[in-house]
Amino acid sequence: MPGLFDPYTLKGVTLRNRIAVSPMCQYMAIDGVINDWHRVHYASLARGGAGLVVVEAAAVAPEGRITWGDLGLWNDAQAEALRPVVASIREAGAVPGIQIAHAGRKASANRPWEGDDHIPEGGEHAWRTIAPSPLAFGGGLGRVPTEMTVDDIARVQADTVNAVIRARELGFEWLELHMAHGYLAQNFFSPISNHRSDQYGGSAENRARYLLETLIAVRKVWPQDRPLTIRLGVVEFDGNDAMLGEAIELLRRMKSEGLDFIDVSIGFNTPDAKIPWGPNFMGPIAQQVRTETGLPGTTSWYISNPNEADALVRDGKVDLIMLGRPLLADPHWPYAAAKALGVENPAWATLPAPYAHWLARYR
Ligand SMILES: Cc1cc2nc3c(=O)[nH]c(=O)nc-3n(C[C@H](O)[C@H](O)[C@H](O)COP(=O)(O)O)c2cc1C
Repeated sequence: MPGLFDPYTLKGVTLRNRIAVSPMCQYMAIDGVINDWHRVHYASLARGGAGLVVVEAAAVAPEGRITWGDLGLWNDAQAEALRPVVASIREAGAVPGIQIAHAGRKASANRPWEGDDHIPEGGEHAWRTIAPSPLAFGGGLGRVPTEMTVDDIARVQADTVNAVIRARELGFEWLELHMAHGYLAQNFFSPISNHRSDQYGGSAENRARYLLETLIAVRKVWPQDRPLTIRLGVVEFDGNDAMLGEAIELLRRMKSEGLDFIDVSIGFNTPDAKIPWGPNFMGPIAQQVRTETGLPGTTSWYISNPNEADALVRDGKVDLIMLGRPLLADPHWPYAAAKALGVENPAWATLPAPYAHWLARYR
């Protein structure tokens, strides 16, 4: 079986290794437009040796940002600012990817280091939030969202398609639709946040409708040779045992509609979840989803040891590893991992040519 440092090919895209940068909001954009912070951040992650760099959640509309510092992809200025990021990721030998998102009822929050809760209504930078039902998340995210009409749903789906077209035109090669973590798609999928009585609520099939329709609409504009992936919250750890089965059923439907890959994650749709945090605790769940759907896939959460990451791939549990915080702490984690795993010539395996040339004999 291939290991962490073997290339991975999906559709027309080949990653130099199976280490991916998990999407991570920087909360440093102004009006959704990136700046020097992001340019340095993404170039250093690519230059650190990951095979895939997934740019943080980019909101499809202003009200879809988690915080006022989030990236946007609803206008041309936002797209143009991302162009050099795409180029620098590719220049360093990584594949540029992006996550497309709408934050639903968790939107209009403070930046994490300023409170990690909703900005009070009427406060500077606050805006009206929307969701399938007028139900608040709870705790510090207690603002009640406005219930979306069917027209609102169609509008956000159209916004999503437009953002995906911008991502396509920028040359991103890997697309991840954010359908996890208590944001809009998860709000529809979960009976906790979806109390609708129309075709978008009630049965599992109806709660999945928004997600499936969005995927189908996106597939029409995203090129067939570039991977179309989603991050789905498949478990909530709140005692709702039906959720995993519903997620697997939805993923099978999505696979038949052109979904290429699944990033297995958590619902984060209730403050009452009892999440069993620990090293690689999502690994077995990702493996189950991968096996039962037949979709290639990945997961993240507390995978930081190179041997553990390599074993997850070699044992066929996942096809690649999504890393978040370990790469924030050390963008050169892949080079260190290559050395730890005894990869032949770790510099050439992970670094761009000028560095690889001079470091070829350095261990
Ligand atoms: C600063 C930060 C920002 C994040 N932003 C996003 C995001 O934009 N989209 C997303 O799906 N997950 C986001 N996450 C979750 C990560 O992608 C990742 O799944 C999580 O950190 C677990 O992986 P780790 O244990 O390797 O850090 C974020 C995590 C961090 C630490």
